Amino acid sequence: MPPSNPIPTSMRAAHFTSPPTTQISQTAPVPTIQNSGIYTFIRVLSTSLNPVDYKFASLPQPFPRLAIGSAPITPGIDFVGRAWKTTHPDLKAGDLCWGKHNGPTKHGTCADYTLHTGKDGIAKVPEGYMALLEQGRSLAELGGVGVAGMTALQALMMGDLPYNRSGGAERGGKVFINGGSGGTGTFAVQMAKHGFGCETVVASCSGSNAELVRSLGADEVVDYRSTNVVDGLKEWSRRNGGQQFDIIVDMAGMDPYVYWQAHHYLKRDGGKYVMVGAGTGIKDVVLLTKLMMWPGVLGGGKRPFQLFMLSGTTKEQWNLFGKWMVEGKLKTVIEDENRFDLADIDKAFEKLKTGRTRGKIVVKVAEDGH
Ligand SMILES: NC(=O)c1ccc[n+]([C@@H]2O[C@H](COP(=O)([O-])OP(=O)(O)OC[C@H]3O[C@@H](n4cnc5c(N)ncnc54)[C@H](OP(=O)(O)O)[C@@H]3O)[C@@H](O)[C@H]2O)c1
Repeated sequence: MPPSNPIPTSMRAAHFTSPPTTQISQTAPVPTIQNSGIYTFIRVLSTSLNPVDYKFASLPQPFPRLAIGSAPITPGIDFVGRAWKTTHPDLKAGDLCWGKHNGPTKHGTCADYTLHTGKDGIAKVPEGYMALLEQGRSLAELGGVGVAGMTALQALMMGDLPYNRSGGAERGGKVFINGGSGGTGTFAVQMAKHGFGCETVVASCSGSNAELVRSLGADEVVDYRSTNVVDGLKEWSRRNGGQQFDIIVDMAGMDPYVYWQAHHYLKRDGGKYVMVGAGTGIKDVVLLTKLMMWPGVLGGGKRPFQLFMLSGTTKEQWNLFGKWMVEGKLKTVIEDENRFDLADIDKAFEKLKTGRTRGKIVVKVAEDGH
């Protein structure tokens, strides 16, 4: 078992060649453990992919090199695994842990081992979760939470929702999730309905995913392929007594009119537009600048706009997420076609890049105990 095992000298790891293309090295160097500070050296069991994994590494140099380091770069932020060696105050060697790195890192999680540093962003697997394995839940679900799950949580925490105002005591409020069927959206829909206890959750997705999104907790679905989202929301607003949403969380990004027209469906007092899915290309940055700067009197936005950046994740956030998972309020949506082995990491990235994934893409690295 891990505690008595020495740190290996080499390992299997995916290395970006030309992101998102990778090659697997069987003899990659393992991350070097510092002698001081809080760290956890982890035997990775499962990870999941997020658009940021390749988007960031694909930026022109020198940005990726300055932020992540020089080649070879192993992708992957999310993980579930065994703490092999740790100085974390809440963990001991051999514990199962889950979490995420702070961002893209040189020794990511698409590898046999990864090194997590710091106190935040890692926790013991939720109490009570192991008992669920016999009921069809999996450790891979925990490895699929990371960036997407914590983004959904932190974004919804920005809303003027009864749950947030009352420290979790009250339920209610109305939420629109733009893009409810992807990795982040599937968490956001479930969380809004079953965690934050919102009275109404409306979400957009392709018509073919409407049933899935409804099954996760959406009361209404706008099929963005057959209906203009702004028209769909105005219509919803007409039927529901005016500007009603407390928060709009936008995973899809780049239709500026969803924000510019938000005064038709977002509450005047306390309503907030949270932009999660803004792109990173030059065109995206230009559009985002226009989206934020265009004056309200000339047809621009008239409600508060917040550009979301996932920040450090606290122990309390992981505990809350884990509790909701154990209570059955949240699951990671993983379809069979979105399960990959580390050896097939390129296929997993190809799937991610289509932008059409239902739920999460997970990558199995090892069986527990191996
Ligand atoms: N700012 C941050 O800190 C942060 C954190 C996490 C994620 N993000 C960003 O948020 C976005 C979503 O991330 P993700 O992990 O959920 O990605 P993902 O899993 O790849 O999302 C795929 C989903 O996007 C949906 N989609 C695509 N175009 C859409 C549109 N016009 N309207 C509604 N839905 C649309 C697709 O729905 P259908 O298949 O149903 O069409 C698909 O299910 C990405 O751009 C990502 O980079 C940012």
